[in-house]
Amino acid sequence: MSRLSTEEIANQLVTPGKGIMAADRPSPAFREMMEAEGISHDRHSYRNWSELLFKAPNLNESVSGIIMTDEQVRMADAGGEPLLPQVIERDMIPGISPFKGMAPLAGSAGETVGSGLDGLRERLAEYADMGVGFSKWRAALQIGPGTPSYYAIEANAYVMAQVAALSQEAGIVPIVEPEVMLWGDHSIERCFEVTEFVLWRTFEALYVHRVDPEGTLVKASMVLSGSDCAEQADVEKVAELTVKVFKRRIPAAIPGIVFLSGGQSDWHATAHLNAMNANYELPWKLSFSYARALQREPMAVWANQAENVPAAQAALLHRAKMNGLAALGLWTDELERAAVA
Ligand code: 13P
Repeated sequence: MSRLSTEEIANQLVTPGKGIMAADRPSPAFREMMEAEGISHDRHSYRNWSELLFKAPNLNESVSGIIMTDEQVRMADAGGEPLLPQVIERDMIPGISPFKGMAPLAGSAGETVGSGLDGLRERLAEYADMGVGFSKWRAALQIGPGTPSYYAIEANAYVMAQVAALSQEAGIVPIVEPEVMLWGDHSIERCFEVTEFVLWRTFEALYVHRVDPEGTLVKASMVLSGSDCAEQADVEKVAELTVKVFKRRIPAAIPGIVFLSGGQSDWHATAHLNAMNANYELPWKLSFSYARALQREPMAVWANQAENVPAAQAALLHRAKMNGLAALGLWTDELERAAVA
C-alpha cells in the first residue's frame, strides 16, 4: 500500500462533515465501564463491542477514523477475520492509542503523565506497516488549587511532543490531546486561562521537537464551566471562549481540531460543536473525536445482548450523523428530534 503523507491523512481525518470515533478504551477499563452501567460481561464482550462499533453499517458517512487500542488493532471478529483491514475497507482510517496508561508524575502532588514511551519508535513502525494512519496521546490536566502545576503542564507537553515527533517519523499523524478536565467547581474564565496556558506550552514543545503542524491534529477540550460550578455558561459562551482561546494559541497551519467530549452530555457535546461551526469564521476544521458522546447511548441499547446489535449500531450512527452535521454547523434540535421519532 502506498502511504499518504501525514498532511494528506490529517486532512482526510477532518473531511467536512466527518469526525473521529475514539474507541480506545482498554479492555479492563471497558469492563469496569460495563459493570458501572450494570451490564453483565463475559470474556468475549470487549471483542463483541469493538466489532459492533467498527462494523456499524455506513459509519463512514460521518466517521473518518477510529482510535483503537493495541489489543483492537490485532483483534479478529467473531468469524476469525481481522478487524483492522475491515475498518480500512469501510473507508475509515485506523488510529492507535499507543499509550500504556497514566503514571503518577514523580515529584508532583498527585498529577499524572502518560506512560509508554519505551520502544515506541519500533511499535509505531509496526503500526504503520499494519495500515494505521494516526496516533493519539493524552495529557489529563486537572484544575484545582495550585493545579495544573507548571511542572505538570511542561512535562506533559514535552512527552506529547516526543510522541508527535516519533509518530511523524513513522509517517503517522499525531493527534495531540492536552485535556483540561471538566471536573471541579472552577468558573469558565478559569478554564479559559488554564487552556490558554496549556495550549501555549504545548505548541512551544511541538515547535522545539520539530513537529510539522500541517501533519498534526489537536484533540482539545472545550472551554467550559467546571462540572460543579454554580454558574454554568450557556452554549453561546462556550463557543465564544473556545474559539477565542484557539485563535490565540493554535496556529492556522494545523488542519483541524477534534474535540473530546470529556463528560459532557451527548446534547451539549453536539450543540457546542455546532455553535462554533455555525457562528464563527475559522482557520481550521473543527470536528469531533468523541468516545462517551458517541457510545454512551449505543452501549445502553446494546447491554451486551447479541440481538440488540443492530439497534445499538443505529443509535451509534445517529449520534455520528448529528455530530457530522455539527461539524458543518448544520445541526438543529429539530433534526435531532426528527431522527429519533
Ligand atoms: P471522551 O469523548 O469520552 O472524553 O473520550 C475522548 C478520548 O479519547 C479521551 O482520550
